[in-house]
Amino acid sequence: MDVQYFVSIFILLWRRTDSSDAYPKLCFPEDFMFGVATASYQIEGGWNVSGKGESIWDRYTHQYPERVFDHKNGDVSDDSYHRYKEDVKLLKELGVNFYRFSISWPRILPTGFINDINKDGIRYYNELIDELHRNNIEPVVTMYHWDLPQVLQDLGGWTNPIIADYFVDYAKVLFKEFGDKVRFWLTFNEPLSFCHDGYGGNDAPGGQASGLEDYMCGHNVLRAHGKVYTLYSKEYRNEQQGSIGITLDIAWMEPATTSKEDQDAAETARQFTYGWFAHPILTDEGDYPQIMRQRIDQNSKRQNFARSRLPHFTSDEVQEIRSSFDFLGLNHYTTYMVSPGDNKTSAVPSFNNDMGVSMSQKAEWPKSNSSWLKVVPWGFRKALNWVKTTYNNPNILVTENGISLKPGLHDPKRVNYIDGYLRALHDAIYKDKCRVIGYTYWSLLDNFEWMRGFSERFGLYEVDYESAERTRSPRLSASYFNNVATTGCLPTSSDDYVEYTLTNK
Ligand code: NOJ
Repeated sequence: MDVQYFVSIFILLWRRTDSSDAYPKLCFPEDFMFGVATASYQIEGGWNVSGKGESIWDRYTHQYPERVFDHKNGDVSDDSYHRYKEDVKLLKELGVNFYRFSISWPRILPTGFINDINKDGIRYYNELIDELHRNNIEPVVTMYHWDLPQVLQDLGGWTNPIIADYFVDYAKVLFKEFGDKVRFWLTFNEPLSFCHDGYGGNDAPGGQASGLEDYMCGHNVLRAHGKVYTLYSKEYRNEQQGSIGITLDIAWMEPATTSKEDQDAAETARQFTYGWFAHPILTDEGDYPQIMRQRIDQNSKRQNFARSRLPHFTSDEVQEIRSSFDFLGLNHYTTYMVSPGDNKTSAVPSFNNDMGVSMSQKAEWPKSNSSWLKVVPWGFRKALNWVKTTYNNPNILVTENGISLKPGLHDPKRVNYIDGYLRALHDAIYKDKCRVIGYTYWSLLDNFEWMRGFSERFGLYEVDYESAERTRSPRLSASYFNNVATTGCLPTSSDDYVEYTLTNK
């Protein structure tokens, strides 16, 4: 036996026992971006100051406080309208590359229309954007994160086709005022949520006509998106050099078993929940997914409607909507198991009845503080791969991913969640070649979680709602995320965070 032999045995044994092998150091590409997100109604407060108009969320939470879990509203929330400089300091401290925030339409256009442009609203977002640039933080701007001017809702909101033109007017103001300083725009955040829950569920404006109004809303959102994409390409792109996307909510739909029925049901669920918006925009067809068209047309006929409840695009609209994206914004939180539904409990007509599937979550999946959100990192990788193969590997910016937990600064479960999902993302990028350009944690701060009020906390920073200053304090997860954002790598077994990141894996 020579020395060489002993050395190789030693190396072999050392490799086997070295825990960093089982838990390797994973780094993201050089130009990969890390950021955090918020939305205007959820953090700004200042609901009626400095010329801001009323939004549908102002009206809804004031009119029906009992519908919100804790009977609260976003009147003050995190008071970011007055405390945005403090927020930028937190972003700086976190070391993120970008900040995704949304612009409040009624803060810019109090009447909804461009007859009255609110100077103070323009000033506010200019100051926020300038402060971000001063700190080397890239603004990623969502034009619409659910706070429609109430005036426009009084005309039918997203169910009225004319809204597409008003959205274009609003977008024009944004490009003109901020376009020289913004490289990433998102037209809409989660149209599935605000159309389905807003016009056929519990969210503002409180519409109760699923199967009709949610489809009208979706239709006009797609038309509006296409028009704004064209406007940017024709009038602003050359000079401003930015890119435009839309953010879709993409929960993974896993077949409940390997049976053909369950696989078909899962695919139907994917087409109804993400294909509804992705298919028209990300494919050359520029139209709804075939399965949606087929099921809704058939059901409408059976239910004696004169025409399909799913509207048709004109050929000009198809032209405008197809391929109207530079990147896809993707929000992902959780996974569902899917099988065919018996449709006994769904209303007729309704989106759920048309989709005709049954969704559930496994009891063993780790829980969050939101009933719908279970921790399933592998679903993230599958969702990214489905988008890659279905839509020809588009550029993706993960615009939201996060977990709600009970208040408290020691949040190892959040560290564990982020770490697990980032490892799945790393596999999707390096092993599966998905084109993902950045990752956004939702959210920078605790905030108004819509119908759940302040009861569900997603923040890397905790907000003390008892204090007039709305004091912000970093959680353990803020220092974990700071480590990831500044090194571009996930911790290894020798790093401090391993204690938290290894639990539940
Ligand atoms: C999606 C929405 O865009 C955001 O507003 C919400 O707070 C998070 N998901 C968490 O539910």
